[in-house]
Amino acid sequence: MNLTELKEKHAQYQASGLNLNIQRGQPSDEDFDLSLPLIDILKRDDYKTRSGIDVRNYPGGVRGIPEACELFSELLGAEPGEMVVGNNSSLEMMTNVLQWALIKGVKNSPQPWIRETPKMIVTVPGYDRHFSLLETLGFEMVPVEMTADGPDIEAVERLAKSDPQIKGIYFVPTYNNPTGDTISEDVAKRLVTLDAAAPDFTILADDAYSVHHLDDNPGEIPNLLQLAKSAGNPDRVILFGSTSKVTFSSGGIGLLAMSESNLGYWLKLFSMQTIGPNKIEQWRHVRFLEQYPGGLKGLMRDHAAIIKPKFDATLRILNEEFAGTDLATWTEPRGGYFISFNTARPVASRVVELAAEAGVSLTPAGATYPGGVDPENSNIRIAPTRPPLGEIEEAVRVMANCVKLASAEYDEAN
Ligand SMILES: Cc1ncc(COP(=O)(O)O)c(C=O)c1O
Repeated sequence: MNLTELKEKHAQYQASGLNLNIQRGQPSDEDFDLSLPLIDILKRDDYKTRSGIDVRNYPGGVRGIPEACELFSELLGAEPGEMVVGNNSSLEMMTNVLQWALIKGVKNSPQPWIRETPKMIVTVPGYDRHFSLLETLGFEMVPVEMTADGPDIEAVERLAKSDPQIKGIYFVPTYNNPTGDTISEDVAKRLVTLDAAAPDFTILADDAYSVHHLDDNPGEIPNLLQLAKSAGNPDRVILFGSTSKVTFSSGGIGLLAMSESNLGYWLKLFSMQTIGPNKIEQWRHVRFLEQYPGGLKGLMRDHAAIIKPKFDATLRILNEEFAGTDLATWTEPRGGYFISFNTARPVASRVVELAAEAGVSLTPAGATYPGGVDPENSNIRIAPTRPPLGEIEEAVRVMANCVKLASAEYDEAN
């Protein structure tokens, strides 16, 4: 289609009064419905755990109930003794860790990070909330590219070795938000062993999608904590996760895992913030997941049955619209919540603007880069999980026309 035809098609979309949204990284109501038994699974006399903790009262400690540590250790590939099970948000746990690191340092810090004007390596494209959190806390971000094998390891090694102010790397190791890329065994091993100028170089691995496979055979996914322990560097890795996209986004459980030697240091700090987490919610999750057919794995398989057709439809339409053109590239994730789409020309912000005109809400261009600025103006995060299948198909078709139109406008002007 030429520019005039693309404009006409865009005008037709505008006139049709669409109201579609593929920017929200949220489960669908169908996903939530799988966990509805959570709401009333606890009967009023079910307040004592098998380990004898009364979930109504304070005693029980800051690590969460042992049954939850055991159950969720599977989610992070950790030992139960390495787990901290918290309240509903892993982001809050990440914030706690970063704030304590600034004020007190991590276990092996010569001094609090704040004294050193700390820098943090981040992967791009990446998760906007990591960037805004680091920025708000005063970290200087050092972006490296997220490749199909994980963070660009050559760049990470070079940066970490040369600059003692670089205190670590903060990224998503499994099914990255938004690319869907997963760290390879080789990159994981190099990360846990790299020679860093900072003695307290820390890997903050946000494993939000560790069990969110779309394939029946996801294969072995490297576990940074286990690799760090085997490499004799047990305190370098802190893993985070949650059930926000397993059970309820607002009523789930936040998780953290680190070596037992590291836990001693961190639990003292966490216990300054709280006497303990909400143990009732934890016990409810234990009861629910234990009775779910196939347990956690079974629940994730049922999510995949809902989510995979949405990814498949998005990828099919992208192929139909762009295969054989020089207009765009995109990722084909094997899990997680997002597809990362790149326009070949620097037109992402124009695509988002055109899509909004046509009634399709896309993640703001630049959101996947620190400071909201994508230097290539090309990355768009597609989130296919929340809307029903039909809406996704329509939204991706509209977006495709916007990409073609923005690219044609660009070619005409340049
Ligand atoms: C990579 C990543 N980490 C964390 C979160 C939020 O986690 P939580 O709900 O546990 O705070 C999200 C949500 O989209 C995410 O994509």
